[in-house]
Amino acid sequence: MSTQNLFRKEATSAAAGPAGLTRVAAGRRAAALRAELAEHNRRYYIEAQPTISDRAYDALLAELGAIEAAWPELATPDSPTQLVGGAPLKAFATVTHRVPMISLANTYDRAELRAFDQRVRKALGARSCGYVLEPKIDGVAVAVRYEEGIMTQAASRGDGRQGDDLTANLRTLRDLPLRLAGPPPPLLEVRGEVFLPRAAFARLNVQRQDDGLEPFANPRNAAAGSLKQLDPREVARRPLAIILYALGETEGFAPATQVALLEALKAFGLPIAPRYWPCADISALEAALDELDAIRHEFPFDTDGAVIKVNERDWYPLLGATAKSPRWAVAFKFEPERAETRLNAITVQVGRTGVLTPVAELEPVLLSGSTVRRATLHNEAEIQRKDIRIGDRVRIEKAGEVIPAVVEVVTAARTGAEQVFQMPTSCPECGGPVARRADEVALRCESLQCPAQLKRWLRHAAGRQALDIEGLGESVIEQLVDQGWVRGLADIYELTAERLATLDRFGETSAANLVAGIAASRGQAFWRTLHALGIPQVGATSAQLLARHFGSLDELAAADQETLEQIPQVGPTLATAIRAFFADPRRQELIARLRAAGVTTRQQETDRPRGPQPLAGLTFVLTGTLAGGPREYFAERIRAAGGQVSSSVSAKTDYLLAGENAGSKLAKARKLNVPVLTEAEFLDRIQDQSVPTPE
Ligand code: IVH
Repeated sequence: MSTQNLFRKEATSAAAGPAGLTRVAAGRRAAALRAELAEHNRRYYIEAQPTISDRAYDALLAELGAIEAAWPELATPDSPTQLVGGAPLKAFATVTHRVPMISLANTYDRAELRAFDQRVRKALGARSCGYVLEPKIDGVAVAVRYEEGIMTQAASRGDGRQGDDLTANLRTLRDLPLRLAGPPPPLLEVRGEVFLPRAAFARLNVQRQDDGLEPFANPRNAAAGSLKQLDPREVARRPLAIILYALGETEGFAPATQVALLEALKAFGLPIAPRYWPCADISALEAALDELDAIRHEFPFDTDGAVIKVNERDWYPLLGATAKSPRWAVAFKFEPERAETRLNAITVQVGRTGVLTPVAELEPVLLSGSTVRRATLHNEAEIQRKDIRIGDRVRIEKAGEVIPAVVEVVTAARTGAEQVFQMPTSCPECGGPVARRADEVALRCESLQCPAQLKRWLRHAAGRQALDIEGLGESVIEQLVDQGWVRGLADIYELTAERLATLDRFGETSAANLVAGIAASRGQAFWRTLHALGIPQVGATSAQLLARHFGSLDELAAADQETLEQIPQVGPTLATAIRAFFADPRRQELIARLRAAGVTTRQQETDRPRGPQPLAGLTFVLTGTLAGGPREYFAERIRAAGGQVSSSVSAKTDYLLAGENAGSKLAKARKLNVPVLTEAEFLDRIQDQSVPTPE
């Protein structure tokens, strides 16, 4: 395709933007939305005091997204819309740390800590030394660079000298600003820890188990696993958070103390630990350590200890470092919290998608301040690996400190009376058949009538992220299923007020309200119906994506594996799960009944992203260094305008967008006569297309 064709497409593209805004008004609105969203992110993540609902936040984000899709030149690299994640990568690029990322020496008791203080004072020739005590965050160490206040790069620690380029993944973290607040220094490389908050970790593991996947052992593994994903969209689905506490390479920024450093980071809008303790000397330090130990379970992240740093940064060069760790800081590790108890029985729970999860029923025992009665055993393989038997004495630990897990068996305490556990061969809830699907570790109940599954499915379908049915809470669902009135989602739409009024603790008013709630759910956005179906692997984000892409349930149900996999965000696992779901005739019946009940099964006009798609049908390849932002930023702009981005040049490529130092792709494009655009030419084109053409 020639350059002229591109112009033709532009000229025919719609000129009016969302809500009839002019370009100037849209620019103003976008800036206002960006500021408002950044402020809400700050309230949510830094102050932990959100002032609007998630839904209201999403509505603002969607409005900004629509404006940026209509006028791509209004999109900025620091826009909150950039947080949703770019295209998958083939592999991570390597980043060299200009200042090596060294680790810390550990201390395990107070005597070792006092010895550290003595060493420091001796080296300084000082009688006492001031310190800062911070929680040691159990996450994944990263370095994030801001140039002139704009986030330009993020990397993992790797071997300390070289790490993986995690820029695209870290951009998806909502509490990590893409632009610093206040006047920024020319260069600021901050270091910190990415973690998965405990509550999010618990939810992620429930989801993974529902999907038949191996759960993560603890939040750190979950955070590390999430960051290793090559697909930033996948990372965006994990609510990772970050806390910053140290510096790498900097220019024009040299705080005198660690306290000043932390406060400066906070003023830049960067998240720091919720508490830190400036300590005048070692005895204050010991008191602070006790305080941290007492409150650390209240933090949303796991803390396996403390980090103690000399407060005066001017003294760091004096104190120096060994090859592995600095002499001005040390880690203090708390004893892992474990308890020993008897495993009385193993029961089996049935999840929303039918996954069978074995649970240890324990002799109640006190652990980290609460009584533990049950612990997850994850799956059969885990029980076999640890050789856990009924009647064993076991050691339990709070993995992620919320869900206790059985760490190991005290084999020395065995009497011989312990019994080997076997997973049931039929569903413990409904007696239905159980089976293990290919590629899954979990067993599933295959019956769609299983009441346990049904209840969890209905709770999900009625939930805020799906059909949002007001009044359809847990106890109502329990009763509806136990009475046998509801055997599937479609039955909900046949309930009458008279019938509902006979439920326990349910008067005529609640019955009428529930009927109204059910009626209102018929008109929910299409993606919500899709999410409510409970297709394994399909969460709210995928449901929105699939809804946009296919437009109706029928089209999605008819899509074959290849069509599904062609969508950049859909991998083979998701495609297989979708195919398997719709291949089941019982699901076809469900869809037919939902449609007959008047539930939305296709995308409405109001759901569609408006705005012109001037690059629809055009495939771009990007190469070289682009001055205006990371390559992924340009890729998103192309996609927002309806174009596609491919990684290699072929006869099917319409344009090559080439930055500085373009190499083999440029040569190949020239050989194949693929038109080459410079960055400026590309921006001109994109700019032009949004200006109404008087034709
Ligand atoms: S300061 C020169 N502060 O723990 C080292 N590290 O075991 C600067 N960590 O490598 C590190 N919380 O990955 C520092 N408040 C904190 C920390 C912290 C967690 C990690 C970090 C470090 C490791 C040492």
